[in-house]
Amino acid sequence: MLFTAFSNTRLKTKNRIAMAPMTRSRTSQPGDVPNEMMAVYYKQRANAGLVVTEGAPISAVGRGYSMTPGIYTQAHIDGWKKVTTAIHDEGSKVFIQLWHVGRRSHSSISGEQPLAPSAIKVPDQVFGPLPEGGFGMIETEQPKAMSQRDIDNTIADFVQAAKNAMEAGFDGVEIHAAHGYLFDTFMRLESNQRDDQYGGSQENRMRFMLDTLKAVADEIGGDKVAVRVSPHVTEGFVDEDAEIIQVMLTAFEKIAPMNLAYLHFSENISRHVEASESFRQQVREVYPNPIMVAGKLTKATAQELLDKNYADLVAFGTPYVTNPDLVERFKHNWPLTGFDADARLTLYGGGEEGYIDYPEYRA
Ligand SMILES: Cc1cc2nc3c(=O)[nH]c(=O)nc-3n(C[C@H](O)[C@H](O)[C@H](O)COP(=O)(O)O)c2cc1C
Repeated sequence: MLFTAFSNTRLKTKNRIAMAPMTRSRTSQPGDVPNEMMAVYYKQRANAGLVVTEGAPISAVGRGYSMTPGIYTQAHIDGWKKVTTAIHDEGSKVFIQLWHVGRRSHSSISGEQPLAPSAIKVPDQVFGPLPEGGFGMIETEQPKAMSQRDIDNTIADFVQAAKNAMEAGFDGVEIHAAHGYLFDTFMRLESNQRDDQYGGSQENRMRFMLDTLKAVADEIGGDKVAVRVSPHVTEGFVDEDAEIIQVMLTAFEKIAPMNLAYLHFSENISRHVEASESFRQQVREVYPNPIMVAGKLTKATAQELLDKNYADLVAFGTPYVTNPDLVERFKHNWPLTGFDADARLTLYGGGEEGYIDYPEYRA
C-alpha cells in the first residue's frame, strides 16, 4: 500500500509516502529567502507523493531559528516558486509548513520579545546569533503574554501567509501546532495560565488553534489546510500534560467538519511517550478524514500503520536527509544510508555539503 496512490476529494498523491518537514536553514541572506539550492534539494526528494517543507515563519516575530525561509515578503514568495515548480515537475504535491515558534525564540532572532500565552520561560535553546559572532545554540528569552491584539494580529498573519503560499504555487499549508511552539503552548496547562477566553478550560486552551485553522480554511479552502500536532511529545516543556490527549481528541472532533487535507501526528522525537494503539483507535473514532503519522518509522512500521488503517499517509524525516531516493530504495529493498554523526553536523546552515550531495543508490 505504501506505493499505491492516495486519493480522496481533498488530496491526491502518487504514493502514501511523505517527506516530513525538516528545518535545514539554508536560505539566501539577507532576508531569509528560499533559493535554487533548496529547489534542487526538494526536487531530489520529490519521489515522496507529498513533500512538507521545513517550517516557514509566518512573520518576523514568529521566527525562532536563524536562516529559516519566511513566507511573509514578496522575495519569499518568489523564492518558494522555484521550490514548488521543482516538486510539481516530479508529479508530487507540496504543502508549506506555516510556523510561529511562540516562546521558543530570542529577540536577537525575532526582532522583538517572543510571544506566548503567559510570561513563562522554561530552559530551552534555539539556533541564533552568538555573542562572539557566527551562529549556534542560544538560550531562549523570557516571553511576553499575548494580548488580544497580538492574537488577532497573529491569526491575520497566518491568513496572509496562507495567501502568500497560494501565490507561490503550494498545494496547501500545514499549520505547525506541535513541538512546544505557539499553539502547543496554548493547549498545555504548564505554559498557559491565562484567565481570558484562551485559557482555563480545555475549550479555551484549544480556541486559538481552532480559530486560526478556521480563518485560514475560510480564506484558501479547508482542502488546502492541514495541521501538525504532537500530543505525545514534551519537547519545549518541563513535564507531561495530564490533559493534552483529551484536549487534542476534542479538538479533532471540532476540526473534522473543516474537511482538512490531513491531520499530521509527530511522534517519537526528543522527549516523548509512546502513542498507544487505543489512542490511534480513539482518533479514528472522532476523526474521519486523512491522517498522516511521522516519527522513527521504517518501511515495515509505516506499512503496518497503513494496513491497520491508523494512517493514510506516512512521513519520513531523517531517512530523507541521507536517502534522496527513499521511495526507490523502499521499492527495491535497497539498503538505506544511515543517519550518522557526520549527517548531523550538516543539518543546519552551510552549503551543498550534506544537503544536496547525497547520491542515489547504485547497485
Ligand atoms: C533536521 C531536522 C529538522 C526538523 N525540522 C522540523 C520542522 O521544521 N518542523 C517540524 O514539524 N518538524 C521538524 N522536524 C521533525 C521531523 O519532521 C520528524 O517528525 C522527525 O525527524 C521524526 O521523523 P524521523 O524519525 O523519520 O526523522 C525536524 C527533524 C529534523 C531531523
